[in-house]
Amino acid sequence: MKNFKWKYSKFLLNKNFQFSRNYVLKYLPSNLLVNSHKSISKWKGYNPTPLLKLNKLNKKLQLKNIFYKDESKRFHLKSFKALGGAYAVEKISKKTNKIIVSSATAGNHGRSVAWGAKRLKLQCKIFVSQYVSETRVKEIKKFGAEVIRVRGNYEASLKECQLLSKQNNWKIVQDVSTKNYKYIPQLTMAGYSILIKEISNQTNQYITHIFLQAGVGGLAAGLVAGVAKYFKKIPKIIIVEPDRADCVLQSIKNNKLKKIRIKKESIMGGMSCNEMSLVPWQILKKASNCCVSISDKNVAKTVAGLKDKKFSKTSIVGGECATPGIIALVGICNNKKARKFINLDENSNVLVIGCEGNADVKLYKQLLSKGRK
Ligand SMILES: Cc1ncc(COP(=O)(O)O)c(C=O)c1O
Repeated sequence: MKNFKWKYSKFLLNKNFQFSRNYVLKYLPSNLLVNSHKSISKWKGYNPTPLLKLNKLNKKLQLKNIFYKDESKRFHLKSFKALGGAYAVEKISKKTNKIIVSSATAGNHGRSVAWGAKRLKLQCKIFVSQYVSETRVKEIKKFGAEVIRVRGNYEASLKECQLLSKQNNWKIVQDVSTKNYKYIPQLTMAGYSILIKEISNQTNQYITHIFLQAGVGGLAAGLVAGVAKYFKKIPKIIIVEPDRADCVLQSIKNNKLKKIRIKKESIMGGMSCNEMSLVPWQILKKASNCCVSISDKNVAKTVAGLKDKKFSKTSIVGGECATPGIIALVGICNNKKARKFINLDENSNVLVIGCEGNADVKLYKQLLSKGRK
């Protein structure tokens, strides 16, 4: 951790950057955003998650403020994902408990769907690949869902989910959009956008830079739509990915959807994706200013740093996917050219998304002890 001498792996300016609120809201319409907030804010146990300040790190990096949106406090699920799948389940069930919902997941999305199904007393079938940890499976089962393990990777689990859902007339609730499957992923992204609605009420400082971590890009696109809808000024938008799974960076670099080959899975499992979702691609190809990739090297140190008050005066529980914004920000601040490119200075109000807490308790403990060494 000493003096945070961290580096990013790649930094790419988006040559096709052109932010337009209308363009973004064409792909994720305003009424979906408004309706998701109206519904979710009525759910039992709803509270905006805290907007914390990393008030030690901003001094080190000579920035005005670093805001940290703490999703470890999101319902019982300890992740922003609680807002997406569960909301889509509510919308498609149309108040009947006769349907059966299904989904394929790397973990947190499936928990959200299972939780959403339990809230509405629906049966639920969740498909997971051989790589999803037993801890995550247990968490899904806690909500009464049947978990079906499939040999192979995420794509294999999705194929099996599609096959059995067709045979049995189960309703698939996926967070990844394709040419012929857009509405349900749009609902999940609309659910995520309420993070930004909350932030717009939590501070009157203008956010100048927002670091958005991406797997298939659903979280990032949902939040960009939130920015287009709720923020008075548009911040610089920086997409962060694991360098082993930089499908957004590669797509933006080539100006077309790129499927990449993942040689080794990142420890940031929820972000270890090889291809972007379609609607996020349409949004992010224009709306992101730049893309940054980072290695796994500083993930454990950041998990421990959050917990042990290295960045802020309060202790924060952030899992592996909550770290990339901080790691990329430090990396950029350590590179004069990159820092200047995106105008990070003592007037900057940076927002990073602490998108999950200890959603995988076992992995969290391992990372914490590794990061403290
Ligand atoms: C647990 C988890 N899964 C997935 C993602 C990525 O979301 P998406 O696939 O929508 O980009 C994140 C955050 O980036 C996350 O924290």
